[in-house]
Amino acid sequence: MMLRRWMAAGLVAVATAGVLNAVPAAAERPYDPTAQSLRALGQRHGLYVGTAVDMAALADPAEPRYREIVRDEFSTVTAENVMKWESLEPTRGNYDWAAADELVATARRNGQKVRGHVLVWHSQLPKWLTDGVADGSIDNTELRSILRKHITTVASRYRGKIWQWDVVNEAVSDPWDTPSTLHYKGFWAEHLGPGYVADAFRWARAADPTALLFYNDYNIEAFGSGDPANDKTQFVYDMVKGLLARGVPIDGVGSQGHLGTQYGNYDTLQVADALHRFAGLGLSTAFTEVDVRSRLTDGVQAGDSEEINPRLQASAANFHVLLQACLAEPRCLSFTVWGFTDRHSWVPGTFDDPPQGLATIYDENYQPKRAYQVMKADLIYAGPPYVRMRATPKPRR
Ligand code: G3I
Repeated sequence: MMLRRWMAAGLVAVATAGVLNAVPAAAERPYDPTAQSLRALGQRHGLYVGTAVDMAALADPAEPRYREIVRDEFSTVTAENVMKWESLEPTRGNYDWAAADELVATARRNGQKVRGHVLVWHSQLPKWLTDGVADGSIDNTELRSILRKHITTVASRYRGKIWQWDVVNEAVSDPWDTPSTLHYKGFWAEHLGPGYVADAFRWARAADPTALLFYNDYNIEAFGSGDPANDKTQFVYDMVKGLLARGVPIDGVGSQGHLGTQYGNYDTLQVADALHRFAGLGLSTAFTEVDVRSRLTDGVQAGDSEEINPRLQASAANFHVLLQACLAEPRCLSFTVWGFTDRHSWVPGTFDDPPQGLATIYDENYQPKRAYQVMKADLIYAGPPYVRMRATPKPRR
């Protein structure tokens, strides 16, 4: 009897010791926000955190980490290239929806919202279209109806599946263009005049009553301090204010956020001011293509940490400025990075003389960089009174 009691006591002791030493069950582990994903932490503020998706990398069996991070870290996705006109209608009347459909299906599986990019842009247009206009076989009247057909066809196909559409992208010139006075630039303005912008929004709305319709551009992160006539952000502000005054169904402005650590860039107050001013027009905003590149000096390319570290820290500081400003404006609905890993970034292929890179939040081996940690900290430590839940705007009719 006595023995049995000892044994029982022994068992209890062992069990208790086991329990004491066992890892506490998830429910018992204290909440560790640093272990949360960007998407989970963004939801604390109702903010969608996104990435551009390279569909070739997403489909590559040798890139499981790419798929995992797209799924786990982001609550919204944008097609980096496969929803652009040259990809969707490579030959006239023949549509290739496969890759774009796959992105939408992937997003649905991952519980993510889709930012549609892009209905009207002067770049990545199909050759049959630009050749037809160049050789005169497509005149401006036909060009306008072709544009209407494209917007209607694409927006109708994805009706109800696209959260935000970049309806018109990069329609405004830069101060370094010729003429330097800011103007509507590019293929569409040259052939159809600036009126195509309003038409595009009306056609997109007619095709999809549910999507939020955005004007998207770069170098509009803050208002300039110089002559407003030379200020691209002021030009875009006046343009969208004019569209609203004419009852055009525009819902928001997308600020791409392609920055470089070699430039002066902005502080949070300057960027927050711009977002507040657009909100003052009743418009939503979003950061749509954020990356912060750096010069790949000889030292950087040689792996010199004294060259690399300042650039990684400066890059992180600029991600922080844009994200903190976005958090401070409830009508800033989403923060999308233009590719999340240096392994798949447009920067080195475009900025090769002098070479640039290191632009994203994960390195080439999918290791989170300082920029990722800084974004996470911003999402964890932000809160009332200056950071509130996001607004949930209704699409304008
Ligand atoms: O699809 C062809 C492929 O068939 C060919 O083998 C390959 C080799 O040349 O090129 C592939 O096309 C490339 C395409 O991306 C798809 O990968 C083009 O050369 C390349 O120029 C194109 O670059 C894209 C760029 O837009 C074009 O302007 C970048 O990936 C994309 O990140 C970039 O994204 C733009 C946004 O849409 C708008 N804002 C600026 C941003 C950066 O330029």
